[in-house]
Amino acid sequence: MLSGIQPTGDIHLGNYLGAIRQWVADQHDHDALYCVVDLHALTLPQDPAVLRAKTLECASVLLAAGLDPDVCTLFVQSHVPEHTELSWLLECTASMGELRRMTQFKDKAVKGGEESARVGLFTYPILQAADILIYDADRVPVGEDQRQHVELTRDLAQRFNQRYGETFVVPEPAIGKVGAKVVDLQNPTAKMSKSSPQGTVLALDPPDVIERKFKRAVTDTGNEVRFDPETKPGVSNLLTILALATGRGVDDVAEEYSQYGPLKADAAAAVIELLRPLRERYAELAADPAGTAAILSRGADKAQAIASTTLARARAHVGLLPRG
Ligand code: TRP
Repeated sequence: MLSGIQPTGDIHLGNYLGAIRQWVADQHDHDALYCVVDLHALTLPQDPAVLRAKTLECASVLLAAGLDPDVCTLFVQSHVPEHTELSWLLECTASMGELRRMTQFKDKAVKGGEESARVGLFTYPILQAADILIYDADRVPVGEDQRQHVELTRDLAQRFNQRYGETFVVPEPAIGKVGAKVVDLQNPTAKMSKSSPQGTVLALDPPDVIERKFKRAVTDTGNEVRFDPETKPGVSNLLTILALATGRGVDDVAEEYSQYGPLKADAAAAVIELLRPLRERYAELAADPAGTAAILSRGADKAQAIASTTLARARAHVGLLPRG
């Protein structure tokens, strides 16, 4: 199993509840690799010093959340250069047409103008395919927004296998449950994201900040507490968060509340407790950056041992002359 996370922006409650918590659970049931995809981040402008710092921070948050380097493999994408070499072989497998159909490229390129979009933004799904195929991953846990990229990965693997003989495992997406979708506290029609600081609870926010963000959360007209994302998106989001944080069902939680105030307060308290161990463990890791760097280096060694074998197979199958 393989999944990746970009080291841009801060890890927030939506990432934690929607993905990272599942990664932590999955590491015990699967042979799991998790990758901080710093090369993917370069598809948009990044300040070099910030990118470097955020890559370490992102890895530290994942460790603080419970990824255990003795159980899973956690590493930084650019530490295993085999990804980019396989990416080239896959660029020579993919077609312009199928990349043009990627909706994420269309969305992002429209924003900044396609003419000035980086070529890497266009080829990004191929690098993602390389991330997956190079580990023979058969399972890729991602959000719904990444389904198309995993489908492309499947197509590329099948085409390559057909053209050159059995080389890659064809992966399946493992899309998280719909119920795990956490939206912006200020704008409940948008996903929780780093671009909305007041509506987004960060994994490392201190308790008083979390409390304030929930207090100011947008609710809905009317005063009834009921789970109905269509007509009551704000309240439903608070119920979702409280339910996910406490491991209960949304309707079950909804029955206990008749007012918005107590629901907000309890959601805040539950999230503070949920994130407390992560914050404490993060403080220890942040005090020892060399320790985290060593963990990542070991992770890259383990990943590279697999990646180099797959890459050698792919190189041989396409007909590259072995170096004598
Ligand atoms: N594109 C993914 C995202 O933006 C990140 C990613 C890169 C990824 N490589 C991956 C996810 C491989 C799963 C598997 O969220």
